Parts: sequence; C-alpha cells; structure tokens
Amino acid sequence: MNQAFEAKLRTDLDALKQAGTYKHLRHLTTPMAPEVHMEEAGDVIVLSSNNYLGLADRPEVIAAGKEGLEKYGAGTASVRFICGTFDIHRRLERRIASFLGTEAALTYVSCWNANTGLFPTICAEGSAIISDELNHASIIDGVRLASKARRERYKHSDMAQLEEKLKSAASSFPIVIVTDGVFSMEGDLAKLPEIVALAKRYGAITVVDDSHGTGVMGATGRGTIEHYGLTGQVDVITGTLGKALGGAAGGFVAGSDALIDTLIQRSRPQLFSNALPATVACSSLEAIDYLDGHPALVAQLHEKTEYFRAGLKRIGYAPLETESAIVPIIVGETAFAIEISDKLLKAGIFVTGFGFPVVPEGTARIRVQISAALTTEEMDRALAAFERVGNETGLLAKRSR
Ligand SMILES: Cc1ncc(COP(=O)(O)O)c(C=O)c1O
Repeated sequence: MNQAFEAKLRTDLDALKQAGTYKHLRHLTTPMAPEVHMEEAGDVIVLSSNNYLGLADRPEVIAAGKEGLEKYGAGTASVRFICGTFDIHRRLERRIASFLGTEAALTYVSCWNANTGLFPTICAEGSAIISDELNHASIIDGVRLASKARRERYKHSDMAQLEEKLKSAASSFPIVIVTDGVFSMEGDLAKLPEIVALAKRYGAITVVDDSHGTGVMGATGRGTIEHYGLTGQVDVITGTLGKALGGAAGGFVAGSDALIDTLIQRSRPQLFSNALPATVACSSLEAIDYLDGHPALVAQLHEKTEYFRAGLKRIGYAPLETESAIVPIIVGETAFAIEISDKLLKAGIFVTGFGFPVVPEGTARIRVQISAALTTEEMDRALAAFERVGNETGLLAKRSR
C-alpha cells in the first residue's frame, strides 16, 4: 500500500474521531427484532431499525427465503438481460405493481440503485429535476448523475418555492419533481396533495421515494400516496425492500409499462449489475403478501408510536410531532446526541444519535423508530431508560427550565 495515501486516510479518520463523528459499527449476533444481542452491549431493545412491521424475523418470511435458496440456488451469475432473471423476479415485480397500483415495477439490488438508475435514464439534456432539499442522499446522487439536466432544489416542503422553480423551468421537458414520501431525519410527510396539484398545473411528473412510507403509511401500508388518497396520481414511486418489507435488501421503481421498459433497456444498474438475489425476491414477496393479509399491523405500528411519543412527553421530552413511525428528539449539539445515545446503549437501548452534517448544525437528534413488534413492556423499559439518561445528562432539566 502507498504509504503517503495510507497516512492521509489515517489523518482523515483521526479528524472524524476528533470531531466526534466517527461511526462505530455494532455487531448483532441474533436476527433483527425488538430485542437483539449485540457483541458490544449485550441484550438491547432496538429503537433504531426500519423493521417497522417486525417482518425481518417472521417465520413465513424466513421460510420463503430458504425455499428460494433451495429452488434457485445462489443466483444466475449474470446481469439480467444476459441470463439473470428468474420467474420469481417477474412475480415480485408484478406483486409490487399491483400492491402500489401501478402498471409495472422493476427491482434493483437496493433503492439506492433504483434512484441512481432512474434519473440519468429519464432526464437528458433539456429536462429539469426539482428536488426537495431534504431528500435522501440516494436521490441527491441520482439527480447528480443526470448531469445534463437542469437541476433545482426547493426549500423543504416550501410549495411557493417549488412553484417558482416550476415556472422558471417551463421550457424544459420532462420536468420532474422528486420528493421523499416520509423524510427520514424529520419523520414528516411530503405535502403530496399540493405537489401533485402543482405537477398537474405545470405539466410536470412526480417521483416519490416512499422508502420510509411503504408498510407504514396508509390504512393498508401502501404508503404516503395511499395516506393522502392519491393512488394512481403519482407518476413514479421508488422504494426499498430493506425496511418494512422484510428488511433484507432490494429496491424498486414502480410506474407505467413504458417507464419500466425504458429502465430495462437503458438504466445502467440493470444493464451492468446482477439482479436482486432470488432468496431476497422470495422473502420480500412473502413480506408483501404477509402485510396484505395483516393490515392491522399498520394500525398497531401507529398505536405503538403514539404510546411511545406520549410516554416521552410524560417524562419531559419534546419529540417532534410526526405522523410516521419516526420520532425525532432534538437535543442540540452533535456531541450531546452521541453522549445520550451512548448512555442509552449502556442502559440497554439501541437508538442512534444524528448530528451535523447529516442534519443542520445545532439540531442534532436522537431518532427513535418504532416497530409494530415492540411490546408495551419493552417500550416501558425503554422509557424508563430514557428518563434515567435524560436526568443524568441534564437534558430533561434543560427542557423544564
Ligand atoms: C428515502 C430513502 N431512499 C432510499 C434509501 C436507500 O434504500 P436501500 O437501503 O434500499 O438502498 C433509504 C435508506 O435509508 C431512504 O431512507
């Protein structure tokens, strides 16, 4: 290894440590569930996973993955258009489309891949992409790859500014508005009714990444679009299979037949990278079927989220008021968020602190995520730890001043 380059990497890593933003990986030795065993901290309650519906360790989901391995082996050892598509990919894609109410869908190995495959394929020179400033990093990178397109950002959920940008991009075609359905750091929802109305008025198309909304929002878990009663009115939906829908990995784009065919023909991750593993296709398909057969899980998730939020308030916290299953608690400085999450981990609660540059300076936070699989007893134990740590660190005293 080049010594000078090694030294530069070490210096950069030391700088992260100095700044308190160095990330330590935590190693789990049991499946993702409300309680897991962590090498570094023993048995802990998980409040930082996207396992919103508790499907990651559902016996049916595990069995489907095992059957997939038996039936299809490890994979096709090819990219899809050469010899890399199993019938299970087609079944899963049809299922995603029917679940979300679109004509078609196409899977990718991750939603990151889906977002970075989508924008450069549909937005060439002369087109415009208008993106919420708080959109997920995969959208930001996907939009960057559409380097010939006009690229604009609007302030978070600022509909007046979105309209200005639409007016100024009027000569572009297509004009694409892209937003998260649920914003991952805030837990708030995109103003989809206004966005869809503006898109119609200005002849734009809408892309909604509903990675944190699928399985969470809407009466049957079909996402933020269902929540707002807008099924069929959003042009393109992207999402992940790595959160509520089984939690393994995988992502998708759902939309019209022509869009999906275009992505099969031209989207680079489809052309140059292997398909979603068949085992994951099988377990994800089972996860969608399970959710469809048990829509009460979604209501349970929201009841539990409200229970936890009310408990936090009762002990003196001021969590953000959100409609999703993400409950952020703003604590201020990054180092403080890290201190709190470290103390919570020692108290048996696994919940992550996020600071600058992931969120704006001074708004570091503890991001609680609720799962429908958490029991009341587990949530009560977690709340007791939050109370202890809140008092110990002075966070609760600050609030009551
Ligand atoms: C809004 C959003 N889009 C995309 C992704 C990436 O999903 P995946 O893990 O499938 O690449 C995430 C994951 O954090 C996300 O929150």
